[in-house]
Amino acid sequence: MYGIINKSMEELVKSNFGEAKWHDVLQLSDIKIDYFVSNEPYDDEITYKIAIAISEIMQMPLQNVLFVFGEWWILKTTKEKYGGLLKAGGENLKEFLINLPLFHNHIMLMYPKLTPPEFKVSDIQDNSIHIHYFSKRVGLQEFVHGLLSGLGKLYDVEINIQVLASRDNNNDHEIFSISW
Ligand code: HEM
Repeated sequence: MYGIINKSMEELVKSNFGEAKWHDVLQLSDIKIDYFVSNEPYDDEITYKIAIAISEIMQMPLQNVLFVFGEWWILKTTKEKYGGLLKAGGENLKEFLINLPLFHNHIMLMYPKLTPPEFKVSDIQDNSIHIHYFSKRVGLQEFVHGLLSGLGKLYDVEINIQVLASRDNNNDHEIFSISW
């Protein structure tokens, strides 16, 4: 994944727990890179190793780390760096979610070697929607959960998120039901 993802996790750790904890994370993950370049692609393995090391050092389940990182990615990293792009995604939460399937097409213009997630939407009602998440990557369900929760906070809407189906239960993708 592009360095911006790893850098964002670095900022999450440094802002919440201090520089020393990030140093511990780097040491434990044994990745031997101490500076990430945002627009350079890195092995996915590195991102997973960082998340696992954070979970061990902070004594927090990996799933919680991924969720917290999802919210951080929306509310800190992309809001600060790509606020205009986020705004262009929709005037309200529902519009943003309906547009989500096309969202990473815009990102690919900036990050051409992106391997983006795939989203589909269904069951669109006045106060709810189903988001279908497809990815070649495994284990990121709670990251998506956190991203969706972050979007609710971004748009200042109280939302309820339910996982209707998952690759953990023999489905070929995850389905999130979101209501507000
Ligand atoms: C301006 C906002 C955003 C930017 C700049 C951005 C950029 C990126 C980048 C660089 C990656 C790494 C992929 C790679 O390097 O191959 C990524 C992955 C991902 N993004 Fe976004 N993204 C944004 C918003 C969102 C939103 C709103 C969602 C969904 C709610 C989302 C869902 C994901 C997921 C799930 C992945 C993991 C890849 C996978 O599942 O295979 N992103 N994004």
